Amino acid sequence: MRKRFFYLLLPVVMIWCIAGGCQPAETSASLDHGEVPALYEVYQDYFPIGAAVNSWTIKSHKELIEKHFNSLTAENEMKFESIQPSPGRYTFDRADAIVELAEKNGMLVRGHTLVWHSQTPAWVFRDEEGRPASRELLLKRMEEHITTVVSRYRGRVYAWDVVNEAVADGQGGYLRTDSPWYRIIGPDYIAHAFIFAHQADPEAKLFYNDYSAVDPAKSGKIYRLLKELLEQGVPVHGVGIQGHWDIDYPSARQVEAAIKKYASLGLEVQITELDISVYPWQDRRRLQSKPENRLEKQAERYRELFEVFRRNKDVVTGVTFWGVADDRTWKDNFPVRGRKDWPLVFDEEHRPKAAFWKIVDF
Ligand code: GLA
Repeated sequence: MRKRFFYLLLPVVMIWCIAGGCQPAETSASLDHGEVPALYEVYQDYFPIGAAVNSWTIKSHKELIEKHFNSLTAENEMKFESIQPSPGRYTFDRADAIVELAEKNGMLVRGHTLVWHSQTPAWVFRDEEGRPASRELLLKRMEEHITTVVSRYRGRVYAWDVVNEAVADGQGGYLRTDSPWYRIIGPDYIAHAFIFAHQADPEAKLFYNDYSAVDPAKSGKIYRLLKELLEQGVPVHGVGIQGHWDIDYPSARQVEAAIKKYASLGLEVQITELDISVYPWQDRRRLQSKPENRLEKQAERYRELFEVFRRNKDVVTGVTFWGVADDRTWKDNFPVRGRKDWPLVFDEEHRPKAAFWKIVDF
Protein backbone atom coordinates (compact mmCIF):
# COMPACT_ATOMS: atom_id res chain seq x y z
CA MET A 1 0.00 0.00 0.00
CA ARG A 2 2.79 2.37 1.00
CA LYS A 3 4.69 1.45 -2.16
CA ARG A 4 1.65 2.25 -4.33
CA PHE A 5 1.30 5.63 -2.72
CA PHE A 6 4.95 6.32 -3.53
CA TYR A 7 4.46 5.43 -7.21
CA LEU A 8 1.37 7.66 -7.39
CA LEU A 9 3.33 10.57 -6.04
CA LEU A 10 6.39 10.02 -8.22
CA PRO A 11 5.26 12.09 -11.28
CA VAL A 12 4.31 14.99 -9.01
CA VAL A 13 7.71 14.87 -7.33
CA MET A 14 9.43 14.73 -10.70
CA ILE A 15 7.58 17.79 -12.02
CA TRP A 16 8.38 19.67 -8.81
CA CYS A 17 12.05 18.74 -9.18
CA ILE A 18 12.20 19.81 -12.83
CA ALA A 19 10.70 23.14 -11.78
CA GLY A 20 13.64 23.55 -9.41
CA GLY A 21 11.85 22.71 -6.15
CA CYS A 22 14.26 19.98 -5.05
CA GLN A 23 17.43 22.01 -5.58
CA PRO A 24 19.47 22.44 -2.40
CA ALA A 25 18.66 25.71 -0.67
CA GLU A 26 20.77 28.47 -2.19
CA THR A 27 23.61 29.71 -0.07
CA SER A 28 24.14 33.43 -0.13
CA ALA A 29 27.38 33.00 -2.04
CA SER A 30 25.71 31.07 -4.84
CA LEU A 31 22.77 33.46 -5.23
CA ASP A 32 21.74 33.74 -8.82
CA HIS A 33 22.32 37.29 -9.99
CA GLY A 34 19.77 36.79 -12.78
CA GLU A 35 17.16 39.12 -11.31
CA VAL A 36 19.62 41.77 -10.36
CA PRO A 37 19.98 44.39 -13.09
CA ALA A 38 23.46 44.89 -14.50
CA LEU A 39 24.77 48.16 -13.10
CA TYR A 40 26.39 49.30 -16.33
CA GLU A 41 23.22 48.61 -18.30
CA VAL A 42 21.19 50.75 -15.95
CA TYR A 43 23.70 53.55 -16.65
CA GLN A 44 23.92 52.98 -20.39
CA ASP A 45 22.48 56.42 -21.17
CA TYR A 46 24.69 58.15 -18.62
CA PHE A 47 28.32 57.02 -18.34
CA PRO A 48 30.44 53.87 -18.11
CA ILE A 49 30.55 52.19 -14.71
CA GLY A 50 33.99 50.97 -13.72
CA ALA A 51 35.71 48.97 -11.04
CA ALA A 52 39.29 48.84 -9.87
CA VAL A 53 40.41 45.23 -10.12
CA ASN A 54 43.62 43.36 -9.38
CA SER A 55 45.30 40.08 -10.26
CA TRP A 56 43.24 38.23 -7.63
CA THR A 57 39.83 39.82 -8.08
CA ILE A 58 39.80 39.24 -11.82
CA LYS A 59 39.51 35.58 -10.81
CA SER A 60 37.70 35.64 -7.48
CA HIS A 61 35.19 38.34 -8.53
CA LYS A 62 34.99 37.50 -12.22
CA GLU A 63 31.24 36.89 -12.29
CA LEU A 64 30.46 40.18 -10.61
CA ILE A 65 32.95 42.11 -12.75
CA GLU A 66 31.63 40.70 -16.01
CA LYS A 67 28.03 41.27 -15.10
CA HIS A 68 28.09 44.79 -13.69
CA PHE A 69 30.96 46.81 -15.08
CA ASN A 70 31.96 48.11 -18.50
CA SER A 71 35.20 49.80 -17.52
CA LEU A 72 38.20 48.46 -15.60
CA THR A 73 41.09 50.14 -13.81
CA ALA A 74 44.12 48.24 -12.53
CA GLU A 75 44.32 48.81 -8.79
CA ASN A 76 48.15 48.51 -8.74
CA GLU A 77 49.22 46.59 -11.84
CA MET A 78 49.92 49.64 -14.03
CA LYS A 79 51.76 51.67 -11.42
CA PHE A 80 55.43 52.43 -11.98
CA GLU A 81 56.68 49.91 -9.38
CA SER A 82 54.64 47.12 -10.97
CA ILE A 83 55.48 47.87 -14.59
CA GLN A 84 59.14 48.85 -14.36
CA PRO A 85 60.45 47.52 -11.01
CA SER A 86 64.09 47.90 -12.07
CA PRO A 87 65.72 49.98 -14.80
CA GLY A 88 64.55 48.91 -18.22
CA ARG A 89 62.88 45.70 -16.95
CA TYR A 90 59.26 46.01 -17.92
CA THR A 91 56.79 43.48 -16.49
CA PHE A 92 53.47 43.70 -18.25
CA ASP A 93 51.94 40.30 -17.51
CA ARG A 94 49.62 41.32 -14.71
CA ALA A 95 48.49 44.50 -16.45
CA ASP A 96 47.98 42.57 -19.67
CA ALA A 97 45.69 40.07 -17.93
CA ILE A 98 43.40 42.91 -16.84
CA VAL A 99 43.37 44.49 -20.30
CA GLU A 100 42.62 41.09 -21.86
CA LEU A 101 39.67 40.49 -19.52
CA ALA A 102 38.30 43.91 -20.46
CA GLU A 103 38.72 43.28 -24.17
CA LYS A 104 37.09 39.87 -23.97
CA ASN A 105 34.04 41.55 -22.48
CA GLY A 106 34.01 44.70 -24.59
CA MET A 107 34.87 46.89 -21.60
CA LEU A 108 36.87 50.10 -21.51
CA VAL A 109 40.18 50.36 -19.67
CA ARG A 110 41.39 53.37 -17.68
CA GLY A 111 45.17 53.43 -17.25
CA HIS A 112 46.32 54.24 -13.73
CA THR A 113 48.84 55.86 -13.24
CA LEU A 114 51.97 57.16 -14.99
CA VAL A 115 53.55 59.77 -12.72
CA TRP A 116 53.02 59.69 -8.95
CA HIS A 117 55.23 60.28 -5.92
CA SER A 118 54.06 56.99 -4.39
CA GLN A 119 54.50 53.37 -5.55
CA THR A 120 57.43 54.44 -7.71
CA PRO A 121 60.72 52.61 -7.08
CA ALA A 122 63.60 54.52 -5.47
CA TRP A 123 65.94 53.79 -8.41
CA VAL A 124 63.89 56.13 -10.61
CA PHE A 125 65.15 59.11 -8.62
CA ARG A 126 68.83 58.09 -8.41
CA ASP A 127 71.59 57.92 -10.96
CA GLU A 128 73.81 54.88 -11.57
CA GLU A 129 76.12 55.94 -8.72
CA GLY A 130 73.24 56.20 -6.29
CA ARG A 131 73.26 60.00 -6.22
CA PRO A 132 70.07 62.01 -6.74
CA ALA A 133 69.13 61.95 -10.43
CA SER A 134 69.54 65.14 -12.43
CA ARG A 135 66.56 66.91 -14.00
CA GLU A 136 67.70 65.69 -17.44
CA LEU A 137 68.02 62.07 -16.35
CA LEU A 138 64.64 62.03 -14.63
CA LEU A 139 62.91 63.67 -17.59
CA LYS A 140 64.52 61.07 -19.85
CA ARG A 141 63.29 58.25 -17.61
CA MET A 142 59.83 59.75 -17.45
CA GLU A 143 59.67 60.00 -21.23
CA GLU A 144 60.92 56.45 -21.71
CA HIS A 145 58.49 55.00 -19.20
CA ILE A 146 55.47 56.89 -20.48
CA THR A 147 56.30 56.19 -24.12
CA THR A 148 56.79 52.47 -23.50
CA VAL A 149 53.66 52.00 -21.42
CA VAL A 150 51.26 54.23 -23.32
CA SER A 151 52.43 52.92 -26.72
CA ARG A 152 51.95 49.33 -25.62
CA TYR A 153 48.32 50.00 -24.75
CA ARG A 154 47.64 52.45 -27.55
CA GLY A 155 44.08 52.02 -28.76
CA ARG A 156 43.36 49.64 -25.85
CA VAL A 157 43.50 51.97 -22.86
CA TYR A 158 41.16 54.84 -23.67
CA ALA A 159 42.07 57.15 -20.78
CA TRP A 160 45.14 57.64 -18.60
CA ASP A 161 45.58 59.13 -15.17
CA VAL A 162 48.78 60.79 -16.34
CA VAL A 163 49.68 62.58 -13.13
CA ASN A 164 48.33 61.56 -9.74
CA GLU A 165 48.16 63.77 -6.64
CA ALA A 166 50.51 66.63 -7.58
CA VAL A 167 48.65 69.35 -5.66
CA ALA A 168 49.32 70.11 -1.98
CA ASP A 169 46.64 69.44 0.61
CA GLY A 170 44.28 71.99 2.11
CA GLN A 171 46.03 75.02 3.49
CA GLY A 172 49.50 73.93 2.29
CA GLY A 173 51.21 75.60 -0.67
CA TYR A 174 50.23 75.15 -4.30
CA LEU A 175 51.97 72.02 -5.59
CA ARG A 176 53.11 69.12 -3.45
CA THR A 177 56.80 69.76 -2.82
CA ASP A 178 57.51 66.39 -1.18
CA SER A 179 57.23 64.66 -4.54
CA PRO A 180 60.65 63.69 -5.94
CA TRP A 181 59.30 64.52 -9.41
CA TYR A 182 58.74 68.08 -8.26
CA ARG A 183 61.99 68.34 -6.30
CA ILE A 184 64.18 67.10 -9.13
CA ILE A 185 62.44 68.38 -12.25
CA GLY A 186 60.49 71.35 -10.92
CA PRO A 187 56.82 72.25 -11.42
CA ASP A 188 56.92 71.66 -15.17
CA TYR A 189 57.17 67.88 -14.63
CA ILE A 190 53.39 67.84 -14.87
CA ALA A 191 53.25 69.46 -18.31
CA HIS A 192 56.03 67.18 -19.57
CA ALA A 193 54.17 64.06 -18.46
CA PHE A 194 51.04 65.08 -20.39
CA ILE A 195 53.05 65.95 -23.50
CA PHE A 196 54.88 62.59 -23.48
CA ALA A 197 51.61 60.70 -23.02
CA HIS A 198 49.94 62.60 -25.84
CA GLN A 199 52.84 61.90 -28.18
CA ALA A 200 52.60 58.18 -27.41
CA ASP A 201 48.84 58.00 -28.00
CA PRO A 202 47.21 61.12 -29.47
CA GLU A 203 43.77 59.51 -29.17
CA ALA A 204 43.93 58.75 -25.45
CA LYS A 205 42.08 60.96 -23.01
CA LEU A 206 44.51 62.36 -20.51
CA PHE A 207 43.46 63.01 -16.91
CA TYR A 208 44.85 64.75 -13.88
CA ASN A 209 43.71 62.69 -10.84
CA ASP A 210 43.56 63.65 -7.16
CA TYR A 211 41.90 63.13 -3.77
CA SER A 212 40.08 65.85 -1.80
CA ALA A 213 39.31 67.25 -5.23
CA VAL A 214 35.94 68.59 -4.08
CA ASP A 215 37.39 70.21 -0.98
CA PRO A 216 37.06 74.00 -1.52
CA ALA A 217 40.70 74.83 -0.70
CA LYS A 218 42.23 71.99 -2.68
CA SER A 219 39.83 72.18 -5.62
CA GLY A 220 40.85 75.84 -6.04
CA LYS A 221 44.45 74.73 -6.49
CA ILE A 222 43.57 71.87 -8.82
CA TYR A 223 41.49 74.29 -10.87
CA ARG A 224 44.43 76.68 -11.05
CA LEU A 225 46.78 73.91 -12.17
CA LEU A 226 44.42 72.73 -14.91
CA LYS A 227 43.79 76.28 -16.08
CA GLU A 228 47.51 76.97 -16.31
CA LEU A 229 48.12 73.74 -18.22
CA LEU A 230 45.35 74.54 -20.68
CA GLU A 231 46.66 78.09 -21.16
CA GLN A 232 50.07 76.64 -21.98
CA GLY A 233 48.46 74.38 -24.57
CA VAL A 234 49.24 71.20 -22.62
CA PRO A 235 47.06 68.25 -23.76
CA VAL A 236 44.92 67.63 -20.68
CA HIS A 237 41.38 66.47 -21.27
CA GLY A 238 39.88 65.69 -17.92
CA VAL A 239 40.05 65.67 -14.18
CA GLY A 240 39.68 62.59 -12.04
CA ILE A 241 37.97 63.13 -8.71
CA GLN A 242 39.10 60.09 -6.73
CA GLY A 243 36.10 59.90 -4.41
CA HIS A 244 37.42 58.09 -1.32
CA TRP A 245 34.58 59.47 0.76
CA ASP A 246 32.60 58.53 3.86
CA ILE A 247 29.10 58.53 5.33
CA ASP A 248 29.40 62.19 6.39
CA TYR A 249 31.68 63.80 3.84
CA PRO A 250 31.48 65.45 1.35
CA SER A 251 28.02 66.86 0.78
CA ALA A 252 26.34 66.24 -2.56
CA ARG A 253 26.23 69.99 -3.05
CA GLN A 254 29.98 70.27 -2.63
CA VAL A 255 30.55 67.48 -5.14
CA GLU A 256 28.28 69.14 -7.67
CA ALA A 257 29.97 72.52 -7.22
CA ALA A 258 33.39 70.96 -7.90
CA ILE A 259 32.15 69.10 -10.98
CA LYS A 260 30.75 72.33 -12.42
CA LYS A 261 33.87 74.27 -11.59
CA TYR A 262 36.17 71.83 -13.43
CA ALA A 263 33.73 71.49 -16.30
CA SER A 264 33.77 75.27 -16.76
CA LEU A 265 37.33 74.80 -18.05
CA GLY A 266 35.91 72.62 -20.83
CA LEU A 267 37.24 69.45 -19.19
CA GLU A 268 35.61 66.09 -18.72
CA VAL A 269 35.11 64.95 -15.15
CA GLN A 270 35.33 61.36 -13.96
CA ILE A 271 34.88 59.88 -10.53
CA THR A 272 37.84 57.52 -10.59
CA GLU A 273 38.10 55.80 -7.19
CA LEU A 274 34.71 55.84 -5.54
CA ASP A 275 34.12 54.18 -2.18
CA ILE A 276 32.17 55.38 0.84
CA SER A 277 33.53 54.35 4.20
CA VAL A 278 31.11 53.61 7.04
CA TYR A 279 33.55 55.41 9.35
CA PRO A 280 33.46 59.19 9.56
CA TRP A 281 36.72 60.91 8.61
CA GLN A 282 39.42 60.55 11.28
CA ASP A 283 37.32 58.17 13.35
CA ARG A 284 39.82 55.51 14.36
CA ARG A 285 37.45 53.33 16.31
CA ARG A 286 36.82 49.79 15.17
CA LEU A 287 33.35 48.33 14.66
CA GLN A 288 33.10 44.68 15.65
CA SER A 289 30.15 43.76 13.47
CA LYS A 290 28.46 44.98 10.36
CA PRO A 291 26.72 48.29 11.21
CA GLU A 292 23.26 48.05 9.63
CA ASN A 293 22.30 51.64 10.51
CA ARG A 294 25.45 53.00 8.91
CA LEU A 295 24.88 50.90 5.81
CA GLU A 296 21.50 52.57 5.42
CA LYS A 297 23.12 55.95 5.71
CA GLN A 298 25.76 54.88 3.23
CA ALA A 299 23.04 53.81 0.78
CA GLU A 300 21.48 57.24 1.06
CA ARG A 301 24.86 58.87 0.36
CA TYR A 302 25.31 56.72 -2.73
CA ARG A 303 21.81 57.71 -3.85
CA GLU A 304 22.39 61.43 -3.57
CA LEU A 305 25.83 61.28 -5.16
CA PHE A 306 24.67 59.28 -8.17
CA GLU A 307 21.82 61.74 -8.56
CA VAL A 308 24.47 64.47 -8.91
CA PHE A 309 26.49 62.37 -11.37
CA ARG A 310 23.42 61.67 -13.51
CA ARG A 311 22.33 65.30 -13.46
CA ASN A 312 25.77 66.23 -14.82
CA LYS A 313 26.05 63.47 -17.38
CA ASP A 314 27.05 65.95 -20.08
CA VAL A 315 30.41 66.39 -18.33
CA VAL A 316 30.68 63.30 -16.11
CA THR A 317 32.10 60.70 -18.48
CA GLY A 318 32.77 57.84 -16.10
CA VAL A 319 32.26 56.60 -12.55
CA THR A 320 34.63 53.94 -11.23
CA PHE A 321 34.40 52.16 -7.87
CA TRP A 322 37.68 51.47 -6.07
CA GLY A 323 37.09 47.75 -5.76
CA VAL A 324 34.34 45.28 -6.57
CA ALA A 325 32.84 43.98 -3.31
CA ASP A 326 33.25 44.48 0.44
CA ASP A 327 35.26 41.28 0.96
CA ARG A 328 38.31 42.88 -0.70
CA THR A 329 38.84 46.57 -0.20
CA TRP A 330 41.90 48.66 0.59
CA LYS A 331 39.73 50.51 3.13
CA ASP A 332 40.06 47.47 5.42
CA ASN A 333 43.47 48.85 6.29
CA PHE A 334 42.90 52.56 6.07
CA PRO A 335 43.57 54.49 8.20
CA VAL A 336 43.61 51.74 10.84
CA ARG A 337 45.50 48.57 10.00
CA GLY A 338 43.27 45.50 9.86
CA ARG A 339 40.02 47.39 10.56
CA LYS A 340 37.06 46.08 8.56
CA ASP A 341 35.13 48.52 6.38
CA TRP A 342 32.18 48.05 4.02
CA PRO A 343 32.57 50.84 1.43
CA LEU A 344 31.24 49.34 -1.83
CA VAL A 345 27.83 48.44 -3.27
CA PHE A 346 28.25 44.63 -3.18
CA ASP A 347 28.65 42.85 0.15
CA GLU A 348 31.16 40.22 1.28
CA GLU A 349 29.02 37.50 -0.32
CA HIS A 350 28.89 39.49 -3.56
CA ARG A 351 25.20 40.32 -3.07
CA PRO A 352 23.86 43.77 -3.92
CA LYS A 353 23.64 46.00 -0.85
CA ALA A 354 21.04 48.64 -0.06
CA ALA A 355 23.42 51.10 -1.74
CA PHE A 356 23.19 49.12 -4.99
CA TRP A 357 19.40 49.32 -5.04
CA LYS A 358 19.49 53.05 -4.30
CA ILE A 359 21.62 53.73 -7.36
CA VAL A 360 19.70 51.50 -9.76
CA ASP A 361 16.16 52.54 -8.73
CA PHE A 362 15.68 56.07 -9.94
C1 GLA B 1 45.18 56.63 -4.24
C2 GLA B 1 45.69 56.06 -5.54
C3 GLA B 1 45.16 54.69 -5.80
C4 GLA B 1 45.17 53.81 -4.57
C5 GLA B 1 44.48 54.52 -3.44
C6 GLA B 1 44.47 53.71 -2.18
O1 GLA B 1 43.92 57.11 -4.32
O2 GLA B 1 45.41 56.88 -6.64
O3 GLA B 1 45.90 54.09 -6.80
O4 GLA B 1 46.49 53.53 -4.24
O5 GLA B 1 45.17 55.71 -3.18
O6 GLA B 1 44.46 52.38 -2.38
